[in-house]
Amino acid sequence: MNPAPVITVDGPSGVGKGTVCQWLATQLGWPLLDSGALYRLTALAALRRNLQLEDEVGVAQVAAGLDVVFAPGDTGELQVILDGEEVSSAIRSETAGNAASRVAALPMVRAALLQRQRNFRQPPGLIADGRDMGTVVFPDAELKLFLTADAGERAQRRYKQLIEKGLNASLESLVKEIAERDERDVQRTAAPLKAAEDAEVLDTTRLNIAEVCQWALTLARKRQLVR
Ligand code: DC
Repeated sequence: MNPAPVITVDGPSGVGKGTVCQWLATQLGWPLLDSGALYRLTALAALRRNLQLEDEVGVAQVAAGLDVVFAPGDTGELQVILDGEEVSSAIRSETAGNAASRVAALPMVRAALLQRQRNFRQPPGLIADGRDMGTVVFPDAELKLFLTADAGERAQRRYKQLIEKGLNASLESLVKEIAERDERDVQRTAAPLKAAEDAEVLDTTRLNIAEVCQWALTLARKRQLVR
């Protein structure tokens, strides 16, 4: 039996994958796998158990045993429940993001999360958001998208988001953080961030989000994944 179709969307932090994936998921009526959330959840759970983030065996055990539920909340937004506790905001913090990027470099942690991610592939189809969706998790995906943008532009976008939310932000430190995270995601030996050979690559530096969404939808139509 053919597995359900998957569209993978990979790329670096702050490139707009989340927005494009949510939009595609709504257009196609397919669920969304936010694989970054699994790495963030693993990091948060490990920190809460007072584990060292370098403790590969310990953190991989945490990843394998994650008690997590993704449930629609009252407003329709997906809530993330870890060990019975709502952690949707906690996993979005910079602390969780940085810790996630450290545990994501550990091969045993990646292996522990692999099957959990593949289990999301169910009819009618899946939109998979991450770094290695097209290269490692779903190498046989029907459509692979890879988004890029200059680090400076990604820092600007993140800065705008934070200011709009009324939060304090420094553009200078965002540029530094994004560059550091890119370096870690690209340089790691386990599933480094890179486009699959058969991925459609788009540089979004000078595009707005609507243009990127249209590009993705056009490709999905060409592959007859959507009418
Ligand atoms: O997309 P995000 O910012 O929520 O991801 C958090 C971290 O997890 C990021 O540093 C990269 C890592 N990650 C990964 O290594 N592989 C994935 N498929 C998704 C995220």
